[in-house]
Amino acid sequence: MSLTKLDVFDVRNIERAALTPSSRLNFIVGANGSGKTSLLEAIYILGRARSFRSSQAGQVIRFQQECLTVSGRSVADEGPAETLGVRLARRQREIMLTGRKLQSSAELIAALPVLLIQPASSGLLENPPKGRRQFLDWGAFHLEPGYLDQWRGYARALNQRNALLRQGAGRQAEQTWNHELARYGTMVALARERYGERLAPYFLEASRHFLGTTQFELKLTAGWDRSRDLLEVLGDDRDLDRRLGYTHSGAHKGDFAVLADGRPAKAYLSRGQMKLLVFALLLSQAHLLEQSLNRRGCVLVDDLASELDGANRDKLLAYLAERRSQFFITATDDSLLPVSQLPGSGLFRMDQGRVTAA
Ligand SMILES: Nc1ncnc2c1ncn2[C@@H]1O[C@H](COP(=O)(O)OP(=O)(O)O)[C@@H](O)[C@H]1O
Ligand SMILES: [Mg+2]
Repeated sequence: MSLTKLDVFDVRNIERAALTPSSRLNFIVGANGSGKTSLLEAIYILGRARSFRSSQAGQVIRFQQECLTVSGRSVADEGPAETLGVRLARRQREIMLTGRKLQSSAELIAALPVLLIQPASSGLLENPPKGRRQFLDWGAFHLEPGYLDQWRGYARALNQRNALLRQGAGRQAEQTWNHELARYGTMVALARERYGERLAPYFLEASRHFLGTTQFELKLTAGWDRSRDLLEVLGDDRDLDRRLGYTHSGAHKGDFAVLADGRPAKAYLSRGQMKLLVFALLLSQAHLLEQSLNRRGCVLVDDLASELDGANRDKLLAYLAERRSQFFITATDDSLLPVSQLPGSGLFRMDQGRVTAA
């Protein structure tokens, strides 16, 4: 998929913006505070129905306005084009997909797979595991059929079991939910493992490109001892879980690490190398998606220059030039952007919330 048209109304300092992006590389250049991140935020909202900067729509809506609107047209390699629209008010959300009003964002997310790389992404491997689970879940959602239902089934069973543990409802009452939790948890773990296996060769290719080595290994952990049945583990954990008031084993504790020669990469790579490793991970997600039929993604790269030095920026641009995904890349200085050398790319200038094609 790629966006062939984008209209933005009242997102932060952008009163109105209309763009006809290139299906490949799009550079957005402007001074600090001009609205570059806000434009990426608008595209993200179009693909996810929420912002990445704030959980409160009120902060994203332009001052003095009631709501924001983002709409666009996405085309796939095959099949008809889709029109997408998201309107966010302070306490209301409306999602439209080709003339239909959607109740949940799942179909929208599937229609426009959006991936974000921002300065904060470089902490992916060092931060708490939530971000790494989201990384696996994003991939499994887009590539593993039925994953969303499994994940939702798991989340529901987990809530129920935790509530019963806190109420002290007793083993009998918990039993149904243990079964659900074990069934869905095992499916979620399997889907994540399959995703990790599919991702690995793309990740190694990217790590060779960015770091000159393929010594890395992607090591997933399921959230419990995978040599044992989750149902059995839940039974054995029960008294401890009862005291804690929550379930301490299961897919909600899943994680992954990048190992080099069997040791966690984060223990001895430099800051700069860690950034490159995270770039390799995130971009390999986009690469894998390109390989699956009709599922090209839209990748947002915020503040390219602050992330990489000159040599690595060139490496990144060389890598992107080989991809089929659509990219939106922001920077403050266009001397950094050898746009003219990259065929089929677009350049946009951002100035005080206004976008113009350059
Ligand atoms: N809700 C809002 N309404 C209007 N302006 C906003 C809102 N939120 C932030 N801004 C302003 O939007 C401007 C653009 O921010 P940003 O997109 O982060 O710029 P850039 O990424 O180009 O540095 C900032 O000057 C900020 O003060
Ligand atoms: Mg910014």
